[in-house]
Amino acid sequence: MTLCDIGTLDDYESAVPRQVRILDRVLVVVRIENDVYVLDDRCSHEDFSLTEGEVNVEHCEIECARHGAMFSLKDGAPMSLPATRPVGHYDVRDVDGRLEVLVP
Ligand code: FES
Repeated sequence: MTLCDIGTLDDYESAVPRQVRILDRVLVVVRIENDVYVLDDRCSHEDFSLTEGEVNVEHCEIECARHGAMFSLKDGAPMSLPATRPVGHYDVRDVDGRLEVLVP
């Protein structure tokens, strides 16, 4: 396990996905108010960046812009077709104002 610093809450605009590269991974970071969610930035349906998609704040989901599959930001679970497999999800914690992603 590795803890990776991805900045502070203020570095992220609410409901605007942002791509972050840490170690050998490409991740999508989404802030919703004071919560931050991190998923692999690759749709499980086809190889497409989730950073391009819209965030549904009410349901805490992100849409794949390519074919419209929705994924839960809380755990990466697919919430609608055509995706049937989850995307990788990472725990994030706030340590004295710094956001740290736990990378297995
Ligand atoms: S590539 Fe994401 S839904 Fe098809």
